[in-house]
Amino acid sequence: MAVRVCLIGAGRAGKVHANSLSHHVPLGTLVAMVDASAEMLHASGDEFGVEHRFTTLEAALDWGQFDAVIITTPTFTHRELAVMAAEASKHVFLEKPMALTLEECDDIIAATNRAGVFLQLGFMRRFDPDFVAAYERIQAGEIGQPMLIKSLTHGPGLPPPWARDLKTSNGLLAEVNSHDWDCTRWLMGSNPQRVYAEVANFKGPKYNIDTPHFYDNVSTNVRFENGGLGNITGVCPCDYGYDARVEIIGERGIMQIGDIRGQAVIVGTNRDQGYITPIYRTWPQRFAWGYIREMEHFIHCIHTGTPPKVGGEDGRWAVAGVLAGTKSFLEERPVLLSEILDSAASRPAGGGS
Ligand SMILES: NC(=O)c1ccc[n+]([C@@H]2O[C@H](COP(=O)([O-])OP(=O)(O)OC[C@H]3O[C@@H](n4cnc5c(N)ncnc54)[C@H](O)[C@@H]3O)[C@@H](O)[C@H]2O)c1
Repeated sequence: MAVRVCLIGAGRAGKVHANSLSHHVPLGTLVAMVDASAEMLHASGDEFGVEHRFTTLEAALDWGQFDAVIITTPTFTHRELAVMAAEASKHVFLEKPMALTLEECDDIIAATNRAGVFLQLGFMRRFDPDFVAAYERIQAGEIGQPMLIKSLTHGPGLPPPWARDLKTSNGLLAEVNSHDWDCTRWLMGSNPQRVYAEVANFKGPKYNIDTPHFYDNVSTNVRFENGGLGNITGVCPCDYGYDARVEIIGERGIMQIGDIRGQAVIVGTNRDQGYITPIYRTWPQRFAWGYIREMEHFIHCIHTGTPPKVGGEDGRWAVAGVLAGTKSFLEERPVLLSEILDSAASRPAGGGS
């Protein structure tokens, strides 16, 4: 029997997952949708032919005829929705960033563990064919031990207000660079230990953005526990398109993942202009296969009772990196991950959900 899924948050990312379930993952069925905006709910509900629509998760849970949820709402809602779904014994696919704080991450991990349901994080790069091939070749030892990883994500489009406010999203380091935090740790095979971040604000004035601490460029240096180094850069809004590339220098070689060209097509029509090649315009275009395969994986895990490959601990490490990077640029100094991890660990016993 197909896994019955309820989508919570029918916006940009929600529609990508709705598309995967509707067209590419036959063992999963989108049976319900939740969105706080009735307009968005009905527009997306009509687009994907979803019959059961609710404006709150509580109402959807009262109906309750589904096995799993996909949470694609803004970051500041993740803890509450993920814990509520887990407590109703629903498996949880949760978009990145996992949450705003490590305490919220811990609440989500504890709730899913208590309920015995799966938690998969929306790190689709781990399912992208290029990233998977690179990971496997590193594991096979082709370039030796990675020493230095440079990872960039440049996103087009001005982020919505919640996604550029540190209080509701943790800003660009989280919204855009969560994937880099996860992938550098995955590819390096080691946890981050110390970070130093610099930020800049070039286009904020043009868009009349007066959100405190808004930045549209970030460069973060990372030292990993195994002695490896990393550099994560983010730009958003990025006017030229969507760009996600990684370079890994190993003890025995170099590996590059991704291409600035969006298609292996070049066109020449004007000898003064030279060749023209399409660039990636959006993240759904660049990571089309990653989004499909991560959803296949989630549904497969539920079917077979196998824990997902990307879970709460991975999401929590990415949030820890984001918090360390944010502290670093706010306090203008390198920040040890232990400063972030220890303060979460010192939380009073029994705190949380
Ligand atoms: N994996 C990726 O590449 C990727 C890409 C984009 C966004 N995301 C993540 O997906 C999440 C959503 O981002 P988005 O760009 O789709 O945002 P969005 O604003 O396009 O959509 C969010 C939707 O959630 C709804 N919503 C808000 N609060 C709600 C609540 N409490 N209950 C139900 N619905 C609620 C809003 O009405 C909106 O329709 C964020 O965590 C974001 O970081 C991930």
